[in-house]
Amino acid sequence: TRVLVLNGPNLGRLGRRQPEIYGDTTHAELAELCRGWGSELGLEVEVRQTNHEGELLDWLNDAADAATPVVLNAAAWTHYSWAIFDACAQLTAPLVEVHLSDPTQRPERFRHTSVVTEHAVAVIAGRGVSGYRDALALLAEPRV
Ligand code: DQA
Repeated sequence: TRVLVLNGPNLGRLGRRQPEIYGDTTHAELAELCRGWGSELGLEVEVRQTNHEGELLDWLNDAADAATPVVLNAAAWTHYSWAIFDACAQLTAPLVEVHLSDPTQRPERFRHTSVVTEHAVAVIAGRGVSGYRDALALLAEPRV
C-alpha cells in the first residue's frame, strides 16, 4: 500500500527548529526513517513537506482522488485552517493526525484546537518522531 506522509509549515527546519520541543532529527532523517518503517510494515511511504498551504491542499486533493492513506502533521495550520478541514473531510482512505509535541499540553491556547482531528482515525501526539512510526503501524493494520 502506498502511504503519504505530509508535513506542514516550518517542519522543513526540523532538527534546527526549537530542538527542545521538536527534537534534533532533521526532516531528511525523518523522511528516511519513515521510508524504512514503511518498508518493514509493507508500505510504500512518500514523505513531503511544504510551507505553502495551497500545495498541501493539492496533495490532499490528490490523496482523495487516489484513495491514498495519509499521515498528516499540518503544524500550525492544524489550529486554524478551514481549507485543510475541508480537504481532510473529503478523504476516503484513513487519515492519521501526528504531532511531534503534544499541542494540547502546551501553554499557547491556539494550539488546543485542531481542524484535523474530526476527520482522523487517530491522533498521535507527544511521541516525537516515533509518533510517525506508530501512525504508519496503525495504517498497516488491516482493519483501519
Ligand atoms: C506541531 C505542533 C503545532 O502546534 C506547531 O505549530 C508545529 C508542530 C508538532 O508537530 O508538534 O509547527 O504540529
